[in-house]
Amino acid sequence: MKKHFLLAAALAALLAAPASQAAPSAEAPRIVTRDGRHALLVDGKPFLILGAQAHNSSNYPAALKPVWEAARDLKANTVLMPVAWEQVEPEEGRFDFSFVDTLVREARQQNKRLVILWFGTWKNTSAQYTPAWVKLDTQRFPFNVDREGRANYSLSPFGAETLKADKRAFVALMSHLKKLDSAQRTVLMVQVENEVGTYGLVRDFSPAAQAAFEQPVPAAVLARQKPKLSASGTWREVYGDYADEYFHAWAIARYIGEIAAAGRAVYDLPMYVNNALRNPLEQPPKPWNKNFASGGPTWDVIDIYKAAAPALDIVAPDIYSPESAQVEANLRLFQRADNALWVPEIGTKPAYGRFLYAMLGRGAIGVSPFGVDYFDYSNHPLGATATDKTIVEPFERVYRMFAPIQRLWAQWAFEGRTQGIAEGDDRKPQQLDFPGWTAKLTYRLGRFGESAWGGEFAKPAAGTEEPGGGVAIAQLGPDEFLLIGHRVRVRMEPAAGTSGIMMRAEQGRFDDKGRWVMERVWNGDQVDYGLNLPAEPVMLKVKMGRPR
Ligand code: DGJ
Repeated sequence: MKKHFLLAAALAALLAAPASQAAPSAEAPRIVTRDGRHALLVDGKPFLILGAQAHNSSNYPAALKPVWEAARDLKANTVLMPVAWEQVEPEEGRFDFSFVDTLVREARQQNKRLVILWFGTWKNTSAQYTPAWVKLDTQRFPFNVDREGRANYSLSPFGAETLKADKRAFVALMSHLKKLDSAQRTVLMVQVENEVGTYGLVRDFSPAAQAAFEQPVPAAVLARQKPKLSASGTWREVYGDYADEYFHAWAIARYIGEIAAAGRAVYDLPMYVNNALRNPLEQPPKPWNKNFASGGPTWDVIDIYKAAAPALDIVAPDIYSPESAQVEANLRLFQRADNALWVPEIGTKPAYGRFLYAMLGRGAIGVSPFGVDYFDYSNHPLGATATDKTIVEPFERVYRMFAPIQRLWAQWAFEGRTQGIAEGDDRKPQQLDFPGWTAKLTYRLGRFGESAWGGEFAKPAAGTEEPGGGVAIAQLGPDEFLLIGHRVRVRMEPAAGTSGIMMRAEQGRFDDKGRWVMERVWNGDQVDYGLNLPAEPVMLKVKMGRPR
């Protein structure tokens, strides 16, 4: 326990250089797991991805300038950028990585890290990013077919030639990255394909797929994905009404897993898949009914992906439903002892900003709003309507607090010291329980007085019409906390059956050596009604005490 709370010099050293300015290193980024928690190690230390994902069509040299501008405004340390199969292999066997060269060079100039998104066989389930020579040869590169043999729009995971060709292109990309980047490690991770699965059809019914469907479920899947009906047998015998979608998940996972493994064999970077979510509140999940992309890595088939694609480190959620209950449920479902929480996409609507506290507080290895690059395009209603600087504001507000302590926070999260939460749509009080203390949270209050006093005191504070508050808390020592948040009233209370008081609340920041710089002590009005974090985030170091 004592060791757990030893912070001191070692952690200060972690902060010595911001991650993105780290000296060249030969150590590859990797995901590590301890006590059911995960960290992305970069240059050997936990790293927090404060990401900015570019729009789908920003993967060209001439489009990069506004990407860097937006990333800088956002205070992002990492840019997530597509690299499309169609652009790197325009003719079969002729590779052109000039965009990758420009991207990596400019990222270094901009002091940004990169996550590369491989848009290959599947992008949002479709074949749109495959080269023309793939699109035009439907015999060699077959689509899924329905029960009547009619082709669907999505490529079949049983297309042996498709797999071979995608894998060859991906291996060429990873070989190129190895040459280009193994000394500097600008590229941290690679996403293999993008939002896979199939809409409108539960699985491929081609003869090859049908033959595989009638085989026994592989032991690796049986060991992980709970059987519904029988302990072994064919997919139908074991999984009943879920058989088709589970089989499709297995087929796609195996396909991507083979590509990822081949890529890692040449250049071993962390790899992951993202997904268009199914409703996380439908519990237990009903069989597929055209209501999500069948076979995609939705939360209920994470085990199938783990079994069929061990080369993938993470199954990641793309968050585009702003209802707080859904966001919370998704974070809970994707954060597992065998799956690091990583949110590669979240909509840019302002309502999403507060969820960063929940993600980073829970110990996500990172997060990235999607479509942050000032391209004159808006994906409203998924994201913000604006395309200018206003889109970064709800996220910059939070990133600006974490950016200076990104390494410290990642380390604390890995040690299990951090928690975080966003204001719920119901605006109700919440709490975060730490060893020895509980943070009681209330929303919509002014900063002076108690609502129980009635009248003006009971009226919601101006600017709280929409839910917008949140807080992330790190327990630095048994009785010491770091609070980062906005628009929330925090009361630190002793755990049930114990007594304790707040001794001191310092507002401040960390300097570039990781040392705390106190700017003022909150006392009097500023603490009489709890710690009222204002509309713009603040950082408070709070010392609690236990009077005898
Ligand atoms: C999720 C996908 O992964 C992104 O590439 C993009 O298409 C968004 N949906 C919608 O803007």
